[in-house]
Amino acid sequence: MATASVTKAQADKPIQTQVIDVSAPTRREFLYYIWGASIALLLGEATAGLIWFALPRFKAGQFGGIFTYLAKDIPEPNAAPLNIPSGRFWLANPITTDVTQEGFVALYGVCTHLGCLPKWVDTNHRFECPCHGSKYQLDGHWIEGPAPRSLDRFKTTITFEDGSTATTNDVGDPIPLDGKKILKVDINTGARIRRAGHV
Ligand code: FES
Repeated sequence: MATASVTKAQADKPIQTQVIDVSAPTRREFLYYIWGASIALLLGEATAGLIWFALPRFKAGQFGGIFTYLAKDIPEPNAAPLNIPSGRFWLANPITTDVTQEGFVALYGVCTHLGCLPKWVDTNHRFECPCHGSKYQLDGHWIEGPAPRSLDRFKTTITFEDGSTATTNDVGDPIPLDGKKILKVDINTGARIRRAGHV
């Protein structure tokens, strides 16, 4: 059986050592760090995106948000409607028999035909679209022209002086005032109610 033997020359040979700094990252560890940082960055971006989508995009007083008006801003019954260009709507208070529906209403100011902006024509007491001639009553009800629907409306909540409130129903009917005094109205331009045809 062979046995290992160490010669004197081998025994006298100085032992060579190599010092390895275990605290320094290896090339593989370095790649792991880069990979981990990239994943963390992607996750961070995805989380930020989710938060951004979850937050409301519109602020009060901007189109898409809530517009608030006090009683003094509300048109008198059957008077010319008040145009609010920044909210793309008209405040109207139709009350006489030349309209289909009475009560307070916030009308979306865009023609339901091809999207032009109807103007209020005082002498004819109606909205008239400059593009193809559609006409609408003070309550937004279609009169004539190619528009397929009456003017759309925005969901509105009225707070009365007696503390009661009233909100537009799901089909957008005007809110009856029943002689009550308005304290304020909130128009939600993020909640447009499409009219179901010439109603
Ligand atoms: S866009 Fe108003 S009638 Fe055509």
